[in-house]
Amino acid sequence: MSIDCELLSLLRANPRITVLTGSGVSAESGIPTFRDAQTGLWEKFSPEELATPAAFLANPSLVWRWYAWRREIIAKAQPNPAHFTLARMQARIPGFTLLTQNVDGLHQRAGSVDVVEYHGNIMRSRCSRPGCLPDAPCGEGEPPPCPACQAPLRPAVVWFGESIPAYAHLKATEASEDCDLFIAIGTSAMVYPAAGLAELAKSRGARFLEVNLDKTPLSRLADFRLQGPAARMLPELEQALWPSVETP
Ligand code: APR
Repeated sequence: MSIDCELLSLLRANPRITVLTGSGVSAESGIPTFRDAQTGLWEKFSPEELATPAAFLANPSLVWRWYAWRREIIAKAQPNPAHFTLARMQARIPGFTLLTQNVDGLHQRAGSVDVVEYHGNIMRSRCSRPGCLPDAPCGEGEPPPCPACQAPLRPAVVWFGESIPAYAHLKATEASEDCDLFIAIGTSAMVYPAAGLAELAKSRGARFLEVNLDKTPLSRLADFRLQGPAARMLPELEQALWPSVETP
């Protein structure tokens, strides 16, 4: 794969980089993307039907079991070369911010730090009563009761129709307003406000690289595109940037 030399010189000029990842970056870790068909028991449901406050209110046990199923898949998954390359890039490029829509924690397991979890983290649970425990231990039950107030626990993720945690939104907005290069990796750009971050970066003069298997609504904005699986594209970009790097 040949990498655009303008992109390489931009990356070599110590730019401020903001990366936004979506479920496509975890696809090669065996975690289904959101818009892939769900498998097995869950194939008759779509995430949009389950990842909502209304679904949880109507059937907390069903929603809790769906998340337990996803947690099982994630617990068995390993970070893939895309996650490791991003962790190494963050270590080498000072002005590097990683935002993720993913809730699987694989970036952190690959060594990325200060990851901005725009949609929360599935491995954490919180009390479903606003203002109660933001991070609660899980006891028995589907869902377990909150140890503080006995209300049902829920996954500490952002559901459709819910707002982005204030800290994550602020950090993501600042990092998108203030970067030289915005990189979107493995996201369909279907869900706002995350999908608006690339446009925000472009409006502030940033260049935009999209890494995806296919075209997305953001492709029209891209200055550079790497079309293919992230687990191959990112290590190849890294090799082109720093040929000496050993990428397993
Ligand atoms: N490498 C790169 N891109 C990939 C790969 C891969 N191996 N596999 C899939 N993709 C791309 C798809 O082409 C698609 O554009 O990743 C994207 C996955 O899109 P979605 O399934 O919509 O996932 P995502 O963009 O993360 O969804 C955003 O929507 O459902 C909500 O909260 C949920 O965070 C999620 C948000």
